[in-house]
Amino acid sequence: MNRAPRGTPTPPTATPTPVPAPAPADAGATASGGAAPASTARPGTVLLGQGMTRVYHDRTVLHGVDLAVPRGQTVAVLGPSGAGKSTMLRCLAGLEPLQEGTVAFQGELLSRAGSAPRAAGGRIGMVFQQFNLFPHLTAAQNVSLAPRKARGVRTAEADARARELLTRVGLAEHTDHYPYELSGGQQQRVAIARALAMDPELMLFDEPTSALDPEFTREVLAVMRDLADSGMTIVVVTHEMDFARRGADRVVFMADGRIVEDGPAQDVLTAPEQERTRRFLDQILSE
Ligand SMILES: Nc1ncnc2c1ncn2[C@@H]1O[C@H](COP(=O)(O)OP(=O)(O)O)[C@@H](O)[C@H]1O
Ligand SMILES: [Mg+2]
Repeated sequence: MNRAPRGTPTPPTATPTPVPAPAPADAGATASGGAAPASTARPGTVLLGQGMTRVYHDRTVLHGVDLAVPRGQTVAVLGPSGAGKSTMLRCLAGLEPLQEGTVAFQGELLSRAGSAPRAAGGRIGMVFQQFNLFPHLTAAQNVSLAPRKARGVRTAEADARARELLTRVGLAEHTDHYPYELSGGQQQRVAIARALAMDPELMLFDEPTSALDPEFTREVLAVMRDLADSGMTIVVVTHEMDFARRGADRVVFMADGRIVEDGPAQDVLTAPEQERTRRFLDQILSE
């Protein structure tokens, strides 16, 4: 709706996995009813926000935003503070109600205006600037907690998987360490492993490195690159231009509650079509 008419990019790493057939309508679901917007989604669309509008106290902070995320794509969301990036991410995750529009995840309606959104229950993994680890639990216990409590996975199995995931994010030596024994970058990697433990179809990152010192930023970005290379679908709000350039297939630039520009990362970053994007990039690159 508010997107600049730039062709929807195809992910270079896309494996054309068919989206499973939409789940049968859940009669008791808060977000059920009406025509599923997923019918208009292209095959392979994992997440589809249509006309997403979010109003806080009479102030509209998202103005009918559309975003379709194909399987396997890494989307970097850029934009100035207050643009609505975090709000969009939370709406896409079904963590915030919409005043207008819909969000469909894997062909299922997650959120629609006028109803409380459905939680995606770990199938959408979220990583925030703040790691929010439980301080009294070790890295492995933090990672195994949700599978045990929410999915009923047996302790031994959940623990083994937690250790495997922590190894994957480079923390094999730290599985039994408490958060206070870990650096910020290590804690953020535990948070990523924790999200992965729920076997998400999609990962949403909201400025995952903003609270980190530069030396720790690199290791977190490396884990994200690795995830992207493994075929994970990712939407990441970031100010790391290097990551956007090399790690993202697509860049979405937001300002004032709208998507101003949306296209292949190289195109948007090197030859933005919109003046607003150009100004933002000039400013951020001169910092
Ligand atoms: N819970 C909230 N209540 C009221 N206003 C909010 C809330 N969350 C965000 N906003 C406002 O919405 C606008 C967009 O915020 P946000 O999505 O956090 O932007 P960004 O992540 O791009 O910095 C800002 O003006 C912010 O003040
Ligand atoms: Mg934000």
